[in-house]
Amino acid sequence: MKILVLNGPNLNMLGIREPAIYGAQNFDALIAFIEKSAAEARVEVECYQSNSEGDLVTKIQQAYGVFDGIVINPAAYTHTSVAILDALKAVQIPAVEVHLSDVSAREAFRQISYAGKACVKTYQGLGFEGYRKAILFLKDYLSGAPEK
Ligand code: DQA
Repeated sequence: MKILVLNGPNLNMLGIREPAIYGAQNFDALIAFIEKSAAEARVEVECYQSNSEGDLVTKIQQAYGVFDGIVINPAAYTHTSVAILDALKAVQIPAVEVHLSDVSAREAFRQISYAGKACVKTYQGLGFEGYRKAILFLKDYLSGAPEK
């Protein structure tokens, strides 16, 4: 089972960026956490981060026929990008949305998620743990196990 983990703009600035909201750990720590979570779940994982909307769309397109599932934190593009939504709908790869912060408790402009409309599940406000839960959810979902 192959899972693609996508991270959008400014997530490479973790640790420096608004630590009260996003935590003190840096992006390398997030990637190490995701790789450890995937290894423990016995799934293959590839991580990709970009600050560019088009690069994220291209990566989703290239996942077609290659990956079984997608975990995506589109960051600010969550709230603006119909292109990322359309790419997820185009490839029809089961996707789970993750946000480090609890976007539902933040500014009004963060209340809409376009990408989320093409996702089977969302985890928010759990920090790094949301990525682990997303990987485990996808593993069960893809093997047809009932939702936990
Ligand atoms: C975020 C929440 C978004 O609103 C924000 O633009 C981000 C990160 C999160 O992980 O909490 O960049 O996706």
